[in-house]
Amino acid sequence: MKIQIAGTGRFLPEKVLTNADLEKLVATSNQWIIERTGIHERRIAAEGVCASDLATPAARQALEAAGMKPEEVELIVVGTSTPDMNFPSTACFVQSKLGAVKAVAFDVLAACSGFIYGVSIANNFIKSGQCKNALVIGAEVYSSIINWEDRTTCVLFGDGAGAVVLKAGEGESGILSTHIFSDGSKSADLYTPGGGSVNRFTPDLVSEKKYALCMKGNSTFKVAVKSMADAARVALEQNGLTGADIKIVIPHQANLRIVSAVAKQLGLDESLFYINLDRYGNTAAASIPIALDEVVRNGRAGKGDLALMVTFGGGFTWGSVLVRL
Ligand code: COA
Repeated sequence: MKIQIAGTGRFLPEKVLTNADLEKLVATSNQWIIERTGIHERRIAAEGVCASDLATPAARQALEAAGMKPEEVELIVVGTSTPDMNFPSTACFVQSKLGAVKAVAFDVLAACSGFIYGVSIANNFIKSGQCKNALVIGAEVYSSIINWEDRTTCVLFGDGAGAVVLKAGEGESGILSTHIFSDGSKSADLYTPGGGSVNRFTPDLVSEKKYALCMKGNSTFKVAVKSMADAARVALEQNGLTGADIKIVIPHQANLRIVSAVAKQLGLDESLFYINLDRYGNTAAASIPIALDEVVRNGRAGKGDLALMVTFGGGFTWGSVLVRL
């Protein structure tokens, strides 16, 4: 028995925020953003649109591709660090919006690695017989935790959602391995200080913008490159494979220079790596499932091909999923 990707989906908000738009907000330039990140534009959710609003249509599309009805779903895992609310979980809101009445639903908080963590968890739930299928979603509204006066972060992120349906099946296709890792000693490099029990909600929290994401860009960059390369290596080694066996690498879409450096560390051609960060920026936990859905739908990889997904995020968290499509 293999745990297979039975369907994929994505949903991006309509509103496009270009680098030229950002030039009007902060002291930056289209040229700097493209040279240092590779990002040209990103999508931004309209006022009042929350993570479950993006997750639900992505999930519907994945269910349709899998030929499944919402009532058949047994598990919903949402990777998000911009949930609708602290609680209930965004997964519970998605369950309700879909009408997935039978599903157990919960969120995974692993920042940009939330989707890969979710796939790893759902894979084990299905393997152990706790459920027959799972909807794993990455959904983010990072525009809600951005300090739009901070040029070092506001140019990087965007909003969106991607989803997969996992279910047990026969044949060659399926997840070959999942690896997830954490290092909490680096939590101060990438975090949102406010809104939890450390910095409680006060008027100061808002005026000091403590709800907004903080990042040490340089150190995060270096750890991201090493961690993503390590996560790719362990997946290849465990499966007795080399880069030559892989049809496509779907990396977390944080920065084109990070992807180039990972490719270099692994000795792989950059053309093996799927890139859409030029259009969406870093959509955190949504970045890999959005890219995976594009890959499946645009035919860049298809049934029987090996796809290696590699992530990195706040925590720090990182990991990989190797799948035969
Ligand atoms: N526009 C123009 N200049 C900017 C800028 C912007 N948007 N953001 C930063 N700068 C400036 C800095 O202030 C600094 O100026 P200074 O030399 O006068 O102090 C200069 O550019 C260089 O800053 P630095 O931070 O060294 O740039 P960088 O080349 O490392 O690029 C990041 C910055 C954020 C793009 C890069 O560090 C990065 O991508 N880090 C990882 C981020 C990430 O992906 N995090 C999420 C992981 S899930």
